[in-house]
Amino acid sequence: MYTSQNMLDSIKKVEAAREANAVLEPRRMTAEEKEKLLATYHPDYKQSEFAVLTVGPNKGEKVPLELAELLQANSRIKDMDIDLTKIDYDVDVLVIGGGGAGSSAAIEADNGGAKTMIVTKLRIGDANTMMAEGGIQAADKPNDSPAQHYLDAFGGGHFAAKPELLYRLVTEAPDAIQWLSDLGVEFDKTEDGTMVTTHGGGTSRKRMHAAKDYSGAEIMRTLRDEVLNRGIPVVDFTAAIELILDKDGKAAGAVLMNMETREIKIARAKTVIIATGGAGRLHYQGFPTSNHYGATADGLVLAYRVGAKLLYADTLQYHPTGVAYPEQIFGALVTEKVRSLGAKLVNVNGEAFMHPLETRDVSAASIIRECSDRGNGVATAEGVGVWLDTPMIELKNGEGTIEKRIPAMMRMFAKHNIDIRKEPILVYPTLHYQNGGIDISADGMSGVENLYVAGEAVGGIHGRNRLMGNSLLDIIVFGRNAGKSASAKAATFDKVGELTLEHVKAFDKQLKEAGIETDVVSPKLLPTYNHGNPEFEKGAF
Ligand code: FUM
Repeated sequence: MYTSQNMLDSIKKVEAAREANAVLEPRRMTAEEKEKLLATYHPDYKQSEFAVLTVGPNKGEKVPLELAELLQANSRIKDMDIDLTKIDYDVDVLVIGGGGAGSSAAIEADNGGAKTMIVTKLRIGDANTMMAEGGIQAADKPNDSPAQHYLDAFGGGHFAAKPELLYRLVTEAPDAIQWLSDLGVEFDKTEDGTMVTTHGGGTSRKRMHAAKDYSGAEIMRTLRDEVLNRGIPVVDFTAAIELILDKDGKAAGAVLMNMETREIKIARAKTVIIATGGAGRLHYQGFPTSNHYGATADGLVLAYRVGAKLLYADTLQYHPTGVAYPEQIFGALVTEKVRSLGAKLVNVNGEAFMHPLETRDVSAASIIRECSDRGNGVATAEGVGVWLDTPMIELKNGEGTIEKRIPAMMRMFAKHNIDIRKEPILVYPTLHYQNGGIDISADGMSGVENLYVAGEAVGGIHGRNRLMGNSLLDIIVFGRNAGKSASAKAATFDKVGELTLEHVKAFDKQLKEAGIETDVVSPKLLPTYNHGNPEFEKGAF
């Protein structure tokens, strides 16, 4: 419910302009306008928020301050006496992470005949996959093609995607949809069984497949069922806190820690897959996040310490439409599908100030500009936002559209007495996605032999900005890919070599030589919200 007078006054202006705004086609920005806008307003361009790494494989490159602190921190096992001869779990393929990518990887590794195990610091399904709303892209309609999909994503990512990764993403997309559908995902369909597809920001064709606005939850439900039905072991509430190598420097397992008891276990594996997801809970630059509670960049830290290179770790995605009001759901995702269905972004004066489906980085920067230098934002107790004029959806598509197509949005706001069919909602960018991550080759392997990566922990699939719906797609395509590659690789040898953690000591030595003295330990595992408790501040949760 809106109570403050400034909001109520502004809503009157939004209502008065609604019919005109509904038919208005705000023009797209030119390439030059976009470049200037990004450089001035996008958080990725705020140089003071980045640090140059002084140790590790990306030495000399800049990453966000919060990530630099974790990449150049102390190992959690620094002062522990770890016995690597006592093996608690002995598997072919160890999957770290229980989200969509980890589950897809485990299913394919199992298909490949590998003895597979998932380890996850929370529970299977506690992941950004579960939070994904709008849909998954695949060029499977007659007017579309993987080539068209490639061009959209390549341009949207500023031509920085690794071509071999993006090629795999778009060419395997139709099969990914079929695979999910065969497993039981209930995609939205018309009465004759045709998949319903919509646009997302930066798409030239309608190729977004969805399950209302519960797309990620529906996909995760199905993958989780499949993992559990197959009897693939899932060790939950257990974090991987360091990777183990063999004497030849190949990945060979992980040191695990029970999140409750802190008991240490050793997992030996022929191949390891990192599928630990993103980093929203690091709250870069103080932004709120749409991410799940465990998104703390753990995989990047683990991989970095064994020598795997990161790619584009300096680029993040701020989803243009995070909730700006009410406070209880501050930063939660308002799916881009709301704009795909016709809602426009409108400023405090009721002006539709931008095309609603520019790419995400451009949209976020445009909202930030509107609320800062232009002074056209709507003030809230927590900050500022612009209107997303949701009633416009029913004006354009007829009554009942909102309940049918975006029921999750309707319910989320209804809990706070806001009826999005009748009232606009206030939004502002929220930290949503880690565009960068661990560098991999097309078979999913990182720079470290036998260490594979899938999902949001990968860098380079999308370049420097990702289009909507290409993340749910990449967790499936690259999750399956990593599972197949890792199980095939595991089948090529019988025994894992002698285990070692020497790399942890070597990294510590590098820190000392670089003059880095820090109290911080990593991986972080859980976000820090109880400020003031020094133990928590150190990451010792
Ligand atoms: O807006 C959304 O529904 C988010 C989708 C995505 O990040 O792909």
